[in-house]
Amino acid sequence: MPINFYEKEKIFTLNTKSTTYAFGLFEDVFLVHIYWGKRINKFNSIKNILPYAERSFTTASYDLTGGVTNDTLPMEFPVYGNADLRGPAFHAEYADGSAITKLEYEGHKIYKGKKPLEGLPATYTESDDEVESIEIELKDKLTGMTVMLQYSVYNELDAITRSVRIINNGSQTIKLKKVMSANVDMQGCNYDMIHLWGAWGRERFEERRPLLHGIMEVDSKRGSSSHHHNPFVCFADKNTTENAGNAYGLSLVYSGNFVAGAEADSFDTTRAYIGINSFGFGWNLNPEQEFQSPEAVLVYSAKGIGEMSRIYHRLYRTRLCRGKWRDKERPVLVNNWEATYFDFNEEKILSIAERAKEIGIELFVLDDGWFGKRNNDNCSLGDWVVNYDKLPHGIDGLANSVNKIGLKFGLWFEPEMVSPDSDLYRSHPDWCIHVNGRDRSEGRHQYILDLTRQDVCNYIIESVNAILQSANIEYVKWDMNRNMAEIGSDLLQPEQQCEFTHRYILGLYSVLETITSKNPNILFESCSGGGGRFDPGMLYYMPQTWTSDDSDAIERLYIQHGTSIVYPLSCMGAHVSAVPNHQVGRTTPISTRGNVAMMGAFGYELDFTKLNDEDITVVKEQVTQYKEIGEVLHKGDFYRLKSPMEDKMAVWEVVSEDKQTVVVMFVNILGEANGPFVNIRLEGLEDGAVYKEEKTGEEYTGEFLQNMGIYRRRDGDFTSEYIIYKKVV
Ligand code: DGJ
Repeated sequence: MPINFYEKEKIFTLNTKSTTYAFGLFEDVFLVHIYWGKRINKFNSIKNILPYAERSFTTASYDLTGGVTNDTLPMEFPVYGNADLRGPAFHAEYADGSAITKLEYEGHKIYKGKKPLEGLPATYTESDDEVESIEIELKDKLTGMTVMLQYSVYNELDAITRSVRIINNGSQTIKLKKVMSANVDMQGCNYDMIHLWGAWGRERFEERRPLLHGIMEVDSKRGSSSHHHNPFVCFADKNTTENAGNAYGLSLVYSGNFVAGAEADSFDTTRAYIGINSFGFGWNLNPEQEFQSPEAVLVYSAKGIGEMSRIYHRLYRTRLCRGKWRDKERPVLVNNWEATYFDFNEEKILSIAERAKEIGIELFVLDDGWFGKRNNDNCSLGDWVVNYDKLPHGIDGLANSVNKIGLKFGLWFEPEMVSPDSDLYRSHPDWCIHVNGRDRSEGRHQYILDLTRQDVCNYIIESVNAILQSANIEYVKWDMNRNMAEIGSDLLQPEQQCEFTHRYILGLYSVLETITSKNPNILFESCSGGGGRFDPGMLYYMPQTWTSDDSDAIERLYIQHGTSIVYPLSCMGAHVSAVPNHQVGRTTPISTRGNVAMMGAFGYELDFTKLNDEDITVVKEQVTQYKEIGEVLHKGDFYRLKSPMEDKMAVWEVVSEDKQTVVVMFVNILGEANGPFVNIRLEGLEDGAVYKEEKTGEEYTGEFLQNMGIYRRRDGDFTSEYIIYKKVV
């Protein structure tokens, strides 16, 4: 059984195939955290194993044995309002203005399977046998509030999910101020914190910093998960590397404001946490109402950061992403954005599509500029009506023509936005996020629609669906190009304004659920000025995300490297674009642009009619190669053999699920004169198996490739190579 309660020892253990997460009942009442790490099958009684001691200058709210004070106990779900004076996971204000909470154990329930989370994306199961769950009921006796801690254990996938449900069983409103989805009080504080940071055009750069005493956290207050930080954090031992050592990952299935971090206290324990950002957050929980937190996904790896990533990849690819396209190979696409920007008409689009067909491309995506009077980014968002000047046969006519050429047709939308210069804004100026009497800041000349309103959500659903039903659209790019400022809604009461950002995300999720379930055959890709909302929440609705607006192959090494710390290659939209690159001005060979983009959901972002014959030949080969190995790349195990953050070279390897195919990709960032050889040792192979290199026909054993490895020199700038091995014995 993955989940056990040992009555005598007062300990709960949650076991995956190689890990254990344990907590226990202290004094029969308080839930304390005990352990998270390599699998342990037997624990002694809670009385004998908790590392606590009496500490001077600490108070104890409860009559705890041995002089224990709350301030030193590792708590499973710490609350504000007792003598634990570290940062709490829960903080609420009650009707009398007090903010004291005391959570006591009431009972628990263990069951097979996993319940969906009301209104929120979450990992799921295909059969109840895959997962076991436990709900721990905690009660605040004075107010009657119940806090339900929900855990699910993916035994085979080696992951544990957590979330919290608050139920107001009392008679007065409770004002929630902070509800973390997960809190883990870990022993020791000698960890490095690894997180993914960035900005537009350079999203999710990996950063590793030692924890200091005090608080270290990343967050978003922008209304979306953001370009700046990702809802993920990892704590690793000092000596943890890609393939060895302890790594503890916390990832949040949420697309809005979040916080993730740790408090290293004065007794060298670390309180790690992740959840909705309490900044700007509040929730009025009326009697009989429930509040469900987003889900946190906890992954522990004893085999380094790489193994943690592979666990997230498998879980997110197979039990977070949903729908028809989850397991299907994605069509190779061409998107016209960098090829034409707003300057296109039907003729131009069809000429690119015709050339694309000759090359082997499968899907044509029409990006921004097809609606209203949108010839630049100043206007028309919200007016989802085709521009007949540009497209005289409408979207329907264009889709038919593209289909006749032999390609699928896809379309761009930015449904959450409204331009001040739009019919929608002129008729509904109150539909955007705003506070009366305050400025309405513009971002890319646009406002954000108020998705806390049902009428606005209905408008989005109806206007997007009307277009989707009017033509044979088989792919949608769902964009979102600004963050929230001057947050407020006309329809919320003053005391509810603090609920706005979370309500927006709930509104967004309900819109996405409706549109994606009404259109189950469409492949959806989310986007936010590139990867400004690349998070697990969006992946639940849309199995891929445009990784970054920076399409330069070299910059993409850093971006895709960082993104791969949590997210699988199948989720990362990656396209070959023109040179000199539009974002950084760099000229890289078409081969390298293709090789880097193939390590993602592959496509092109250029005008094929302008490519010379030599490049066309290479592109044709790339498309053919991708069709052959795309499935391996998307479903295989991914290894970061050399990090571009540490070297002038990036080397990535993918081993197919059945271990029959191995793909290795090198990119040399800068060449070196007379440089040393670089030794690259492969991973994830079978020692005794024999692998044949496709190009040379040379055969090697798995143990040779993993121990002796292969050698390359840093020859040339921006050069790259793909090596494919097939297992022969
Ligand atoms: C931002 C996206 O990231 C781009 O790919 C493109 O779709 C533009 N928006 C269009 O406005």
